[in-house]
This record gives sequence, structure tokens and C-alpha cells, in this order.
Amino acid sequence: MVSPLLSLDGIGKCWPNGTAALRGVEASFEPGRVHGLLGANGAGKSTLIKILSGAESITAGQLIWQGEPRRWRGPRDARAAGIATIYQHIPLVPTLSARDNMLLEQRGLWRDASRARQEAARIVAALGHPFPLDATVADLPIGARQMVAIAQALMGDPQLVIMDEPTASLAGDERVAVYHTVRRLAAEGRTVLFVSHFLDEIVALTDTVTVLRDGKVVLRAETGTLDEAAIAAAIAGRSVAMLERPPERRATGAPVLEIRDLASPGRLAPLSFTLHAGEIVGVAGMLGSGRSELLHAIFGDDPRARGQVLLDGRAIGRSTQEAVAAGLALVPEDRARQGYVGPMSLAENMALPAGGLLIDDAAEAQAAQAAIDRLAIKAPGIDATPAELSGGNAQKVVIAKWLTARTRVLLLDEPTAGIDIGARTDILRLVRKLADDGLPVLIVSSEPSELLAICDRILILRDGALVADVDPAEQDEAGLIQLAGGSAPMERNAA
Ligand SMILES: Nc1ncnc2c1ncn2[C@@H]1O[C@H](COP(=O)(O)OP(=O)(O)OP(=O)(O)O)[C@@H](O)[C@H]1O
Ligand SMILES: [Mg+2]
Repeated sequence: MVSPLLSLDGIGKCWPNGTAALRGVEASFEPGRVHGLLGANGAGKSTLIKILSGAESITAGQLIWQGEPRRWRGPRDARAAGIATIYQHIPLVPTLSARDNMLLEQRGLWRDASRARQEAARIVAALGHPFPLDATVADLPIGARQMVAIAQALMGDPQLVIMDEPTASLAGDERVAVYHTVRRLAAEGRTVLFVSHFLDEIVALTDTVTVLRDGKVVLRAETGTLDEAAIAAAIAGRSVAMLERPPERRATGAPVLEIRDLASPGRLAPLSFTLHAGEIVGVAGMLGSGRSELLHAIFGDDPRARGQVLLDGRAIGRSTQEAVAAGLALVPEDRARQGYVGPMSLAENMALPAGGLLIDDAAEAQAAQAAIDRLAIKAPGIDATPAELSGGNAQKVVIAKWLTARTRVLLLDEPTAGIDIGARTDILRLVRKLADDGLPVLIVSSEPSELLAICDRILILRDGALVADVDPAEQDEAGLIQLAGGSAPMERNAA
């Protein structure tokens, strides 16, 4: 038996607001293996990672690193010991280049700068999904930014690489690049701790599984002894119903939103389609196919966009203010950046789209509490700020804030990225119910299974052009991926 690189001995963490995020966590992580860490939104995964990486202190128990009890005074201690972390909310410096981000934490650790630059270039070349080292991070798409974060972590030859949901916002091909990197790191004898809500990738990628529920370890096992249903049940504490396809395609109502020759230079070729009342239309495509760009252009959030967007036959002005006033709602992909206002309370955040801060505090509080209940948001209360929530629960706040009565058309960009397996089904059911009540929905997702399960129609984008409009009843996952011009992540991983 190989001795573990890291063991956790009764780790506890109580946040200053009184939340006991971890309670007596026991685990051990052997080198050369990929360890999956799972749990529902708010289970304590990110808290544990912050402790391992020295960003937060523990309130009980101890870390045993290479057989010795250790205590990190800060991230530098953990980093110097050989622990590199890729956080859930990517803390890159947006105004710096990818290279400077990679070199940032390394100052002082490398004797000469040119060797550090060489090392950066070598790491990026080995990634399998290289990015331009000179590009400013803010200009890179979300997938490339994730790659920069991974590359940054690999600087300095870490022994333990911790990844907090590295694939949550990534499309197929980028996920494949992450999988290859993870397997390569383990083959090199490093230890990888991998957090994900995607059970298929946990099963395909990891050697062991540790499941947290309400801050406690409820399952520790070799991955080979488990299947997806067993893992899902451990996460949720109950068996989880997988989303099924609707029995038949539903009849849809009158045209509501008409897109006419919408185009944006370099991003979208002129495209036209119509959303009908009660219809859920999916948008599938590889990364860079223009999926998110399409939603932003419809929402008036692309100053270069040309063409027309008509609601009930009337053209909407091309600004986000006019789109919101007309009743369009966009739940963006990059929710941490665009979706909520950090210092404001949950109640205030959810009231925002209803025209600024509501005067009626009681109504605001009631609406917020209803949303918290409906989406099972784990929060100390409506006065909490998003910063006090787990990543997935903060995402739910953004989704909740747009699910209001005033919404006429719902635009969803990866609504279940980062959402746990139980809540995912709840959110998709809620979307379907909203559509059944007449709301037209346009939904972008990297999960073909998700689109097939809830959409009435699926639009396929390739290089910014609409190349197909398919009936989900006549497609399977492989077919969708093929139409979009890609290959299935898991098949590629096995190859
Ligand atoms: N800075 C903080 N202050 C107070 N409470 C916090 C803070 N960060 C997290 N929490 C709370 O600690 C608990 C565990 O959160 P954590 O972020 O570890 O969950 P997670 O397992 O990473 O969930 P997710 O899948 O949503 O990312 C939650 O109840 C959360 O609200
Ligand atoms: Mg988290």
C-alpha cells in the first residue's frame, strides 16, 4: 500500500457567520492517482479546498502532509510545500496577459525570469489546448481562461494539484484537454484532487471517490466499485431521478420572439428564427460556435450586432435596458462576473431586475424567500451575501432572480453548469414548467443529454452560423455532437 501524500484527520471548519461547513472530515489521498471529490451544492467541497491550499484556517483537526502534521499560515506555505490549486472562481488578473498571470505567483521562486518564461511556454504547449501567451486574459473566452488557470497551477512543479470544478463551464473539446492533463499529471506520479458535478467524468477519470454531505464524509471508495446511481444517491442522500425525455413533442403557440438577420462581425453570420409561446429551443455548438454570442446579441448586449429582434411583432431597441424593459431575461454563463452584485444581500440581488431596489421591503423579502425555497438554495438567510454561499448556490440566486412574472422570454446560458445532480433536475423541471405555462425559452447547453431531455427544437451553430434546426426526437447525443462538428468527450478520453 502506497502511503498517502495527504491525510485529513478530523478536519472541521466553522465560518464566522456560524455555518459549520466541515465536520470531522477523514480522508487520504495517495500519489499517482486521481481522487474525485463530490457533494451537493454547499456540501463543503470548496471550503475543504480552501483549507488544503492555505487560503482558510481550520477550526478542528489536522492536516498530515507526507506523514507530518502541518499547518499552513497562508497560501504561500501550501504552495511552497507543493500544493497548487485551481479555484472555482478563477482568480486571474483580467488586465494582465496569460503569461504574466502564470508568472505572477512564481516571483521569487525562479532564479531567472527567462527560465520561468520557458517553463510557461513548455507547460502551455503540453496542455493540448494551447492559448496565446500574450493575450490579455479579459479578452480570452471562458474556456481559455480556465486553461490559463490550469497552466498557472502547474508552474513550480506541484505534487498535489487541486481542481475545483475545472470543467463546469467548458465545452466538449476543452473538457477533453482537461482530462488528458489530469491523467498525465497522475501518470507523472502527482496527486490530483478533482471536484466535479459531472458523474460521467468522475466515473471515467478518477481512481477514488470521496463524497461530502453537509460537511461530513458519507462515502469513500475505489471508483471501480461504484456506478453513477450509487454516487448520485450518496451525494443527494436519496436516490435521484434522472431527467427523462418528454413522451412527445408538444404543440407550441403563437410566435413571440422573432430574430431577423441577426449578425455580428466575426461572431455571428446573419441568422433568423422564431421562438413560439411555450417552446423550449436549445442551442448546441462547440465552444466558439457563437452560442453565448447569440444570446448576448439578442439581449442587446453586443454593440456591433446588426439585424432585428421583434417581440410580438414589434422591434426591440438594441440595448440591454430596452431588452429588459421589453421583458427579455438573460441568465449569463459567467455568472460570477455578470450575474450578481457581490456586496448586496440575496433579497436585493433577486429584486434587481424588477427595476432596481424595490421600495417594498416586505414584498422583496417574501419573493426572495420563495425563490430560496423553490430552488432549494442553501443559505443562512435572505440577508446573506452571495460571497457567503457556495458556488452552486450563488448560481441559483442568479437563475432565481430572472424567473419572475415580468419575464416574457427567457434566455439561459448553461443554466446547470456548477449545479449539483439533484438540483439540476429541479432546475430543468422548473424551466419546463415555465414553458408549459407559455414562456418561450432559448437555452444554451454543453450537455447534449440536457438539450435532448427538455427541448422542443435544437438549433445547431457552427462558426457563428445556424447550420441545422433539429427535432430532438430524431437525434441522440452522438448525432448532436456530430452535427455540431465535434467528437464525444468520453470517447476521446478513452482513445
Ligand atoms: N465565506 C463564507 N462565509 C460564510 N459561509 C460560507 C462561506 N463560504 C462558504 N460558506 C458556506 O459553507 C458551506 C459549504 O460551502 P462550500 O462552498 O464549501 O460548498 P461546495 O461543496 O463547494 O458547493 P458548490 O457545489 O455549490 O460549489 C455552505 O453552507 C456555504 O454557504
Ligand atoms: Mg464549490
